[in-house]
Amino acid sequence: MGKLSANYLGLPIDSPIIVGANNLTENPENLIQMEKAGAGAIVFKSLFEEQIQLEEIRLEQQLEGYNNRHAEMIQISPDTVYAGPEEYLNHLTKAKLAVKIPLIASLNAVFEETWVRYAKLIEKTGVDGLELNFYTIPFSNELSSAEVEARQIAIAKKVVEAVQIPVSVKLSPSYSNLLNFINLLKDTGIKGVILFNQLFQPDIDIDQVKHITPWNLSTKKDYRLTLRYAGLLYGESPLEIIASRGIHGGEEAVKLLLAGADTVQVVSTLYKNGIEQISQMNEFIEGWMSAHRFSNLHEFRGLLSRAKTLNPLVYKRAQYIEMMLNSEKLLKGLEP
Ligand SMILES: Cc1cc2nc3c(=O)[nH]c(=O)nc-3n(C[C@H](O)[C@H](O)[C@H](O)COP(=O)(O)O)c2cc1C
Repeated sequence: MGKLSANYLGLPIDSPIIVGANNLTENPENLIQMEKAGAGAIVFKSLFEEQIQLEEIRLEQQLEGYNNRHAEMIQISPDTVYAGPEEYLNHLTKAKLAVKIPLIASLNAVFEETWVRYAKLIEKTGVDGLELNFYTIPFSNELSSAEVEARQIAIAKKVVEAVQIPVSVKLSPSYSNLLNFINLLKDTGIKGVILFNQLFQPDIDIDQVKHITPWNLSTKKDYRLTLRYAGLLYGESPLEIIASRGIHGGEEAVKLLLAGADTVQVVSTLYKNGIEQISQMNEFIEGWMSAHRFSNLHEFRGLLSRAKTLNPLVYKRAQYIEMMLNSEKLLKGLEP
């Protein structure tokens, strides 16, 4: 067992650094590079049901310039016709054969029955697990939060029942009480939760007075919300806590593990710093562990979680109150 051994959806892996779903995974050469750089597992880019519909009505030309961006950025026409996912499944089969480390598929479907249908088709490719990408923007003011959540719980349950491979769920932070929702999710039989997705936000160019679609890469400080929830969940949930968003280097990875994450997913940093960044992150974690005399991840995982820290208020509002109490220092640009 190596120093960085961990588990991903119950599968043994050699590093807690997981490549999150993204377009780089479409190229088998990139997958081989990710494996060589020491990734523990890879999540293949999502099958977006809406994208399949788009492809069917041949909107490729309109998609020019969107290459390598989120499929989520693309608006679909209400008249789209349903088409098959064969192309995606072919890519997925090739990807699975390209590497030995676990390859996880990712799915974002539209209808309850298609979530299950696609999940079964994906499982047939031989992938090691399935991530459900619960990425939805509620457009209707008639649907209550409880209804949205109940539907997601039902989908997770149905997919878990329909496949043998381990299933995880990737969430946005936009829930009134995320901890309660994750608690409900645990009874569906999923193995882990990925916190969080990076939602695409539209922007406006005020010179040209039109909408623009900016790149959706995270910044180095975006890990903090994830850190809070990893810290709150550690010891509270039997689900694997998979941290995602703003984890750009080894330092952030160590922070998330200390807070309570089992593993971390990385995407933006691979676009910014190259695939080789994975090995830098592994080296950093090992170096930090040696300096602190830890011989495996279990020894320090969750050490600074709400359950274990000497100051559990840190995960509540303590910092905010501290900032108010130290506002003089803040005005002078000093850390309180
Ligand atoms: C170019 C690109 C493509 C992405 N494609 C997907 C995708 O297919 N499915 C998905 O669930 N997330 C997708 N994401 C989101 C990432 O998996 C990840 O959740 C998000 O970027 C936050 O992690 P990061 O800060 O490490 O980038 C994509 C992100 C980027 C930048």
